[in-house]
Amino acid sequence: MQLRKHFLLSFLALSSNVLADSVLFESNEYSSGALGLGPFQTFMSSPSTPAIWNFIVPYNESTSGQIEEGLILLAPRGTNVNSDGGLIYDKAGNLVWDGTEFGQTLTFKTDTYKGETVILMWSPGTILGSGVGAGYDLIINNQYEVIANFTADLNGTLADFHDIRLTSNDTALITAYQAKPWDLSAFNITNGWLLDSIAQEIDPSTGKAIFTCKSLGVASDHVNTSLCYASPGSSGTAEDNPWDYFHINAVNKDDLGNYLISSRHCHSIYYVGSDGNIIWNIGGMNSSVTMNNGTTFTWQHDVRWQNNQTQISLFDNEGTAWELDSSSSRGLLLDFDAAGNQVSFNKEWLPYNVTVSESQGNVGILDSGNTIIGWGQIPWFSEYDSNGQLLYVVQFGVGDVQSYRAYSANWTATPTTRPSVFVAENEFNTTVYTSWNGATEVVTWQLYGSTSDSPQLAIPLSNTTKNGFETIIPFNSSSTNYKYYQVAAFNSNEKIIAFSNFTASDGSSQGPAANQTVDSSSNNSTGSATPSSSAGLRSTVSPIFSTSSPLSSTGGALQNLVRLPSVLAALWIIVALL
Ligand SMILES: *[C@@H]1O[C@H](CO)[C@@H](O)[C@H](O)[C@H]1NC(C)=O
Ligand SMILES: *[C@@H]1O[C@H](CO)[C@@H](O)[C@H](O)[C@H]1NC(C)=O
Ligand SMILES: *[C@@H]1O[C@H](CO)[C@@H](O)[C@H](O)[C@H]1NC(C)=O
Ligand SMILES: *[C@@H]1O[C@H](CO)[C@@H](O)[C@H](O)[C@H]1NC(C)=O
Ligand SMILES: *[C@@H]1O[C@H](CO)[C@@H](O)[C@H](O)[C@H]1NC(C)=O
Ligand SMILES: *[C@@H]1O[C@H](CO)[C@@H](O)[C@H](O)[C@H]1NC(C)=O
Ligand SMILES: *[C@@H]1O[C@H](CO)[C@@H](O)[C@H](O)[C@H]1NC(C)=O
Ligand SMILES: *[C@@H]1O[C@H](CO)[C@@H](O)[C@H](O)[C@H]1NC(C)=O
Ligand SMILES: *[C@@H]1O[C@H](CO)[C@@H](O)[C@H](O)[C@H]1NC(C)=O
Ligand SMILES: *[C@@H]1O[C@H](CO)[C@@H](O)[C@H](O)[C@H]1NC(C)=O
Ligand SMILES: *[C@@H]1O[C@H](CO)[C@@H](O)[C@H](O)[C@H]1NC(C)=O
Ligand SMILES: *[C@@H]1O[C@H](CO)[C@@H](O)[C@H](O)[C@H]1NC(C)=O
Repeated sequence: MQLRKHFLLSFLALSSNVLADSVLFESNEYSSGALGLGPFQTFMSSPSTPAIWNFIVPYNESTSGQIEEGLILLAPRGTNVNSDGGLIYDKAGNLVWDGTEFGQTLTFKTDTYKGETVILMWSPGTILGSGVGAGYDLIINNQYEVIANFTADLNGTLADFHDIRLTSNDTALITAYQAKPWDLSAFNITNGWLLDSIAQEIDPSTGKAIFTCKSLGVASDHVNTSLCYASPGSSGTAEDNPWDYFHINAVNKDDLGNYLISSRHCHSIYYVGSDGNIIWNIGGMNSSVTMNNGTTFTWQHDVRWQNNQTQISLFDNEGTAWELDSSSSRGLLLDFDAAGNQVSFNKEWLPYNVTVSESQGNVGILDSGNTIIGWGQIPWFSEYDSNGQLLYVVQFGVGDVQSYRAYSANWTATPTTRPSVFVAENEFNTTVYTSWNGATEVVTWQLYGSTSDSPQLAIPLSNTTKNGFETIIPFNSSSTNYKYYQVAAFNSNEKIIAFSNFTASDGSSQGPAANQTVDSSSNNSTGSATPSSSAGLRSTVSPIFSTSSPLSSTGGALQNLVRLPSVLAALWIIVALL
């Protein structure tokens, strides 16, 4: 990466809040928008401009011990986002991977594919006027290589963004939407168009559908559209303006071979057999399952089985762009009693600052019992301990900044790219800035310098502990005039896992010396989903304690954000495509 100093400096001069690896605590300036509606940071060694975090509720000495180890996956997008796309941070708020080279995504999570931890991403994709997507689903390995690229298997209809997840059989569950001509004369719409919600199970290695399930299709086997909660409004009039009456936004499969599907616009969860029949449904106007006190949900997202199918978690939005059903959204955990055909309230996770998120959002129950809630349209996420105690709240934007979901996950990766180096010199000192986008295993950076025109003669000069995304290596060069600098990345086993190019202060660079080879087996357990047993191969999460004075925190003002369109109801039909 050729980074030109003058470019970076002029870029820096244009932005007021440009601190590398900056994290704020209870900052009223941030929350009020005084730092901009999408505060971002910049680096010397990288063109990344990730969102800066503001800990609305910072963790402290009593709560930090409860935080579950892991990294945070966000996918900020919106008119106030500098560069849309997937971002991985450590829990202290330092960037780990900037995935914006792939562009905007909505689903952005880790999963397991053929025994390896991978990243799933919807990219590239287009958000259509109807509020659904048409794009591709990617599986990315822990060297950031795309190992599968597939879409819906529907005769040209591309994959929607609302869900991608992998099954234990290495198949992918995805969503798709198709506009269909439909008789909407009951709604006074002539030549009506309805949006069919589709769940597909795809074999990523072939791109072929193993199973397809549609909300429309067999007229004799449908749910009445009057069961849906959104009128067509001005939609339903044309193929590019269909009525999204069902709005699928989550699909799961269990080992019985049945599918659990969320319909936002019917406020309902459908359990569909492998033959395409609805086995039961929870919620909405015709729940077949008895809903006990406290279990009603509306406009929900991220419906998941929990605890061996004895519980269901979901993000209960409690509102849309045009309707507020209560004073706040919530994470909701339901106890599912299959034998008694009923659901009961187990627990809820309420936001720190009571607000309804009109769209998006998710609930991630972690192995420890901790829970991460992504507040969707509101650029906040929160972690709670297993007792429901709030551990911290992070704000990652102020204006139109949204992340469809927020995840906490373990992720170790060693990119195929080289570390990046930027050299800044003055008369007395040299400062070397280094970063390696996506690398999780670097512990120490060793600096090399060459006084000769032959960079290959560089010798080791110093070691600096990796600090955040970009490590700043100050070097007093008053007595020696080095022409080229280089860094090597050491992992926790004191093995070199990468060499940078040799880089001069004018930005010119040359590749490493021929004898600077890296033993790839000294990288972390590349490709293994199981953490290595070797000591300390985890990415370190430095605990942060807020030292700021106890300012009263302010909530992120909710802006008039992107609204997903409306809709209503139906039935699942199966098109088994074997
Ligand atoms: C390293 O140098 C090579 C050859 O000049 C160049 O193609 C590559 O982009 C450089 N890599 C980095 C990370 O600077
Ligand atoms: C995935 O496949 C599509 C269709 O061939 C292509 O346009 C896109 O560039 C591919 N994405 C990646 C990351 O290779
Ligand atoms: C697939 O799409 C083509 C072109 O739009 C169309 O002619 C054909 O009938 C479609 N096939 C099916 C099975 O829908
Ligand atoms: C359809 O139009 C008729 C006549 O204007 C009106 O009485 C009726 O309420 C309308 N129905 C709906 C569903 O809008
Ligand atoms: C995995 O495949 C087995 C054998 O075909 C099947 O019984 C099981 O239901 C499948 N599980 C999932 C989650 O697809
Ligand atoms: C229903 O649950 C609410 C809390 O969600 C509780 O305050 C109320 O007492 C419950 N009502 C009944 C009849 O159990
Ligand atoms: C999950 O539940 C099923 C059915 O009740 C039971 O047979 C199975 O043993 C359970 N599995 C685990 C891991 O508890
Ligand atoms: C990450 O790994 C650690 C150590 O194995 C484990 O305690 C933690 O639950 C994992 N975190 C997540 C989010 O899976
Ligand atoms: C040069 O670096 C040394 C050590 O980091 C520092 O003490 C000194 O102030 C620096 N001098 C200048 C002129 O930047
Ligand atoms: C690599 O080769 C250079 C000369 O080209 C030599 O000075 C250096 O010591 C060698 N390094 C190693 C690790 O062998
Ligand atoms: C940096 O640390 C590595 C690993 O401990 C060590 O092998 C190397 O000699 C150190 N380099 C310097 C310049 O101290
Ligand atoms: C909560 O958010 C609102 C705006 O939605 C704001 O006016 C209020 O100050 C916030 N309250 C707290 C305690 O953060």
